[in-house]
Amino acid sequence: MIASLSAKNCASNKKAIGIFDSGVGGLTVMRQIHAALPYENICYFGDTARVPYGNKSPETIKKYARENARFLQDQNIKILVVACNTACALATDLHSYVDVPLIGVIEPGVRHAVESTRSGSIAVLGTKGTISSGAYQERLKAALPEAKIFAAACPLLVHVVEEQLFTHAATRLLIEEYTAPLMKNSPDTVILGCTHYPLLQPLFQEILGEDIILIDPAYSTALAVQQKLRALDQLNSGPEKGSCAFFVSDDVLKFKETGELFFQRSLDKVTLKI
Ligand code: DGL
Repeated sequence: MIASLSAKNCASNKKAIGIFDSGVGGLTVMRQIHAALPYENICYFGDTARVPYGNKSPETIKKYARENARFLQDQNIKILVVACNTACALATDLHSYVDVPLIGVIEPGVRHAVESTRSGSIAVLGTKGTISSGAYQERLKAALPEAKIFAAACPLLVHVVEEQLFTHAATRLLIEEYTAPLMKNSPDTVILGCTHYPLLQPLFQEILGEDIILIDPAYSTALAVQQKLRALDQLNSGPEKGSCAFFVSDDVLKFKETGELFFQRSLDKVTLKI
């Protein structure tokens, strides 16, 4: 009985962690999860045919998120990670469409920011959809009622990152323009609330100042996934290293090329989802 129970447990622990994003950006989240949990199998879906999500309506994002979640559930996953900040902010009812535990990037990012701030003054940056949803702002307020919260949408940053203009003068100018009004309020903590912004972290640090605490929700999300799987006794302890499979809804080659920058290693098994 004990042997058959542990064999069953072992098989379900080997199921993959499912991660979806609007495109390549979620690979910054996958990179952190893979680093924290190297024995886990991971199945990633990037909705590259419909990216960007950042400027689409809540109804459309909800529909896309449901479809993406359904696709990953069919891949036999044990947990679903919503890597896309915009989807996480707008598809607030997604949990009622999935039958596996769900983790989004916003809650862990907020927790990390609240633990890190010394002054209680926190800024958040993201896409138009994420910022206008108020998702970060509301959760920050709930976690730290006395917090002073400032937010700015930075819609063009996704494009400059995908064009790999990481240190370009145009990118510098955009960051300065987007953040100048916020920085007048002297926040000590800034949440990079978009999958693409971690690639600009050195530039943000240089422009905003060495003392500013930059929060990458991808890092906190990886820890949250680890904690959740441990609590559920669903961690895969190996002995083989986990495998990574990637699905996209458009151009496999382009995903591989851009994706390697985000994931910081080669992407082998990439399949076009029909
Ligand atoms: N992945 C999106 C996010 O984190 C950024 C790209 C997009 O707009 O789809 O909000």
